[in-house]
Amino acid sequence: MEIVLATRNKKKIEEIRRITADLPVTILSLDNFPDCPETVEDKETFEGNAVKKAAEVCACTGKPSLADDSGLEVDALGGAPGVYSARYAGGSGSGNDIKNYEKLLRELKNVPEEKRGAQFVCCMALAFPDGQVKTFFGYAKGRIGLEPKGNTGFGYDPVFIPQGFLNTFAEMTGNEKDSLSHRGKAIEKLAKFLHGHIHL
Ligand code: IMP
Repeated sequence: MEIVLATRNKKKIEEIRRITADLPVTILSLDNFPDCPETVEDKETFEGNAVKKAAEVCACTGKPSLADDSGLEVDALGGAPGVYSARYAGGSGSGNDIKNYEKLLRELKNVPEEKRGAQFVCCMALAFPDGQVKTFFGYAKGRIGLEPKGNTGFGYDPVFIPQGFLNTFAEMTGNEKDSLSHRGKAIEKLAKFLHGHIHL
């Protein structure tokens, strides 16, 4: 079965391809459908944005489409940046990753280590041409470090230390991150669904 990934973010496509490598699906991306319009992510929840993206791409491509909406919720900031994680420092696109985590570190400047709890959240939505939509959630709990460390991954990875570890996501290999990450956990649920419900 072919599934279209509703994103043009190369790092995310790479990560989702890696996590779904042993599933019996072929992952296409919006690069295969350049005429599909960009979805405006204007919902207040990860689920709202993921469902909207998946449904729009499914309508445009006529194929099952998978969208992911994710972000970082920081306890000391009442759950911010949340759905605004990608544009926390103002701009948009992966060029803003450093500005985003620098802003976060500034906001948490006076917050002690024991109060720097945070979680990554991921909602994956799979929309089918018959109108059905399934959602899968994954969470990764951890804390925000005092300074950025490591250079793998993307986004807030250099400042996020998963629970039970001393290293940031950006100091881990891709496979290590996948086994702990919100996206990895949401995709595990998606994989179970695909194995159980789709006759390939
Ligand atoms: P989305 O593309 O709307 O899902 O944006 C999610 C934003 O949340 C990204 O641009 C990152 O800033 C952040 N984010 C989501 N997942 C991760 C991750 O696995 N590592 C680091 N940052 C992430």
